[in-house]
Amino acid sequence: MNAQIIDGVALSNTIRESLTQETLALKAKGITPGLAVILVGENPASQVYVRNKVKACAQVGIHSVLDQHPSSLTSEALFKRIDELNQDPSIHGILVQLPLPAHINAQEVIERISPLKDVDGFHISSAGALMTGSRGFWPCTPYGCMKMLEHIGFDLKGKHAVVVGRSNIVGKPMALMLLQKNATVTICHSATPNLKEMTLMADVLVAAVGVAKLITQDMVKPNAVVIDVGMNRDEHGKLCGDVDTAGVGEVASFITPVPGGVGPMTITMLLANTLEACTAMHA
Ligand code: GUN
Repeated sequence: MNAQIIDGVALSNTIRESLTQETLALKAKGITPGLAVILVGENPASQVYVRNKVKACAQVGIHSVLDQHPSSLTSEALFKRIDELNQDPSIHGILVQLPLPAHINAQEVIERISPLKDVDGFHISSAGALMTGSRGFWPCTPYGCMKMLEHIGFDLKGKHAVVVGRSNIVGKPMALMLLQKNATVTICHSATPNLKEMTLMADVLVAAVGVAKLITQDMVKPNAVVIDVGMNRDEHGKLCGDVDTAGVGEVASFITPVPGGVGPMTITMLLANTLEACTAMHA
């Protein structure tokens, strides 16, 4: 492996230490930051994710409430719960774990969350703020990717960033954040005819499609920085990203591992957003 690994666990720990100090400073003023995590149904992956979020809150001293509901929960009951949390002064951030059961319209649920407590950054008002460069919460996964690029001192100005994937959670906000830092940005997706032609132009390549090892060595320009957002299982059932790390690691200058890369950074930025929400509410 020629590439340097960007260690998401180590960077997360450094950021979480400073978030712990911020939490202590708020507590000294009698303010305890609080996050509510809502889980509907029994999706095993979601259960692991929310448990990790609650654990991370405890690590930095954020009060958290895990609000678990059966998959039979009605939209009306979920709206009512969100309304309560919107009004609750001990809660500064509200997160509804996705995916939701099919009978619930996820976008309607997200719009029900107060934009002031939208620490996931999925509300249309947060998305609009990111698009226009106004103040608002940034979605945690692309925010974590930006922190990783900042950590290695990568200046995006004038660089070509290629984002593979166009989801509302990662691909689209990622492209906007890179653009805000003056990169030239290309978004590729499932209907892009020649993906390799595009990825080979990337100084920074972000893979966020959910296809195991889609990005292979021949698709990466020498010395590119490669950020792997994927979380998949390979043919042996082993956790892997969207990037063939072993092969791509031979040509890239920096690469993020899976696991231990973007994953922990996502949770860390959720904690950062929660503290930001709390601080803004008490300003
Ligand atoms: N499901 C997968 N990723 C996320 C995320 O970042 N936030 C929420 N709320 N649900 C998710």
